[in-house]
Amino acid sequence: MPATSPAAPTIALRLIGIGTGNPGHLTLQAIAALNCADLVLIPRKGADKADLADLRRMICATHLSAPAQVVEFDMPMRDATSAPYLDGVNDWHDAIAATWASLIATHRPQGGRVALLVWGDPSLYDSSLRIAERLKRNGERDGSTLHVEVTPGLSTLQLLTAAHAIPLNTLAAPVLITTGRHLRENGWLAGVDTIVVMLDGACAFQTLPPDDLHIYWAAYLGMPQQLLLSGPLADIGERIVIARAAARAEHGWIMDAYLLRRGTAA
Ligand SMILES: C[S@@+](CC[C@H](N)C(=O)[O-])C[C@H]1O[C@@H](n2cnc3c(N)ncnc32)[C@H](O)[C@@H]1O
Repeated sequence: MPATSPAAPTIALRLIGIGTGNPGHLTLQAIAALNCADLVLIPRKGADKADLADLRRMICATHLSAPAQVVEFDMPMRDATSAPYLDGVNDWHDAIAATWASLIATHRPQGGRVALLVWGDPSLYDSSLRIAERLKRNGERDGSTLHVEVTPGLSTLQLLTAAHAIPLNTLAAPVLITTGRHLRENGWLAGVDTIVVMLDGACAFQTLPPDDLHIYWAAYLGMPQQLLLSGPLADIGERIVIARAAARAEHGWIMDAYLLRRGTAA
């Protein structure tokens, strides 16, 4: 890392992929990266997602042997009422970037290595890299320097396909990875026989004609409460809706994902 000076601190911000909820998902590379940090930032996402902060705390307690400072912070909440949707998300990312900047300025005014433990892999439906980019741009204005580095993690894709023991793609075929919102608004994409859906709070698979579709659904992948259901969508769709609602009520939160396969390949 380049030398730092009080006037122009240099921060190396490392986004460390931690997998999807099981301490065993952590790679040796992730553990090594964690132990290089001067400051580890742990987001708190509200009482209903306390388990998720607990996992990050447990990872630090188990794997952090270097004398890093561990600081927890409350994640700014997204204003779900603001429209259009993408404007609301952009404002939210600005607020998170401001929070990170303030924490770093408070705890590492002299610069150093800062680690953030990112759910799954930082490249997949995660905005940490976009938020880090904001920090970098703001830093360029005030004279500080930020280097962003990524340690890859096991993502929902790997955990979902492994849990069901299925390949992600059919032979030499493309795959669409998308969100519940996108599936609901756009339906099935022509030309693919496999769609993976994440970030779906409302079982968007219900909006598809179920014939000829097979679903592989999972919730809490990698955690003790992991749930798996699979079968023809026409037979099992309703069961998934009920199981999802019950699990959400029991635990107070849920993270689920599913793979839909069309045709004989299913
Ligand atoms: C904000 S995205 C983060 C994805 C993450 N970066 C990754 O690599 O998997 C959150 C979505 O990932 C999926 N997800 C994350 N963890 C999961 C888990 N343990 N079980 C099932 N789905 C999960 C869900 O679709 C959830 O809505």
